[in-house]
Amino acid sequence: SDVRAVAGAIRDAETVVALTGAGVSTASGIPDFRGEDGIWERHDPMDFHIDRFRSDPGGFWDDRVKLLAAAFDDGNVAPNAAHEALAELESAGYLDTVVTQNIDGLHQDAGSEGVIEIHGSAARVVCRDCSRRFDAEPAMERARDGDLPPTCDDCDGTLKPDTVLFGEQLPEHALMQSQAKAENADVFLAVGSSLTVQPAASLPRVAAERGATLVLVNLESTPVSERADYDLRADVTEALPRLRQAVKE
Ligand code: OAD
Ligand code: ZN
Repeated sequence: SDVRAVAGAIRDAETVVALTGAGVSTASGIPDFRGEDGIWERHDPMDFHIDRFRSDPGGFWDDRVKLLAAAFDDGNVAPNAAHEALAELESAGYLDTVVTQNIDGLHQDAGSEGVIEIHGSAARVVCRDCSRRFDAEPAMERARDGDLPPTCDDCDGTLKPDTVLFGEQLPEHALMQSQAKAENADVFLAVGSSLTVQPAASLPRVAAERGATLVLVNLESTPVSERADYDLRADVTEALPRLRQAVKE
């Protein structure tokens, strides 16, 4: 089967790199953007634009508090079988790096260590004036209490979630690292992503151009599907554990 063939390629590879998207976290109860019931069915992408933050940081924080409250009413978000399979592939020595577009920290919660967060992290906030970073929770707490927008303990500047908004540059170091990883990969797995948002979406092509075996695992086809060596249309919580099992056999 394809899973066996991919497992063989992973065993033979020196460097395996995974790129993950929102589809790896849907089974943990976090909605994706463009899938069925995705965030863009309920929200205007312009609400996630840096211009919106600049013109109305208080309103932006207020919306964010409401969105997060609606998305995670039980507050209990935990890694699922897809995160766990990737963490196990890494600890068994088969996976070098997870490049993730997700901001939820669930790869790290599952035990992955080589994680590059190219869209930032919801666990942190950053000061617009002094660029210091802080844990997000105290700022979220203040925003929930109506202290909008929360401000920096050091300089009183406006705090922003340390996540990439539309119209913002990606964190440069993370982007350069992930490009280098893609160039160096022998097997590149792109999982749970629509592969429509640049520059993340170019990483599979970069890897394939440098000769990597390109493997996609996603419920739907993507713009990169025709370039893929293996295009598995499957649920990541089912396919990744099967793949991990096949690699170990
Ligand atoms: P998308 O929502 O665009 O794509 C998620 C993909 O995962 C869709 O194709 C779904 O069909 C698929 N999917 C959902 N659940 C799945 C499952 N259990 N198994 C397999 N596939 C599943 O999310 P991303 O590609 O991550 O950027 O989106 C990229 C970026 O767009 C995000 O990081 C975000 C957004 O704008 C920023 O916020 C900067
Ligand atoms: Zn500051």
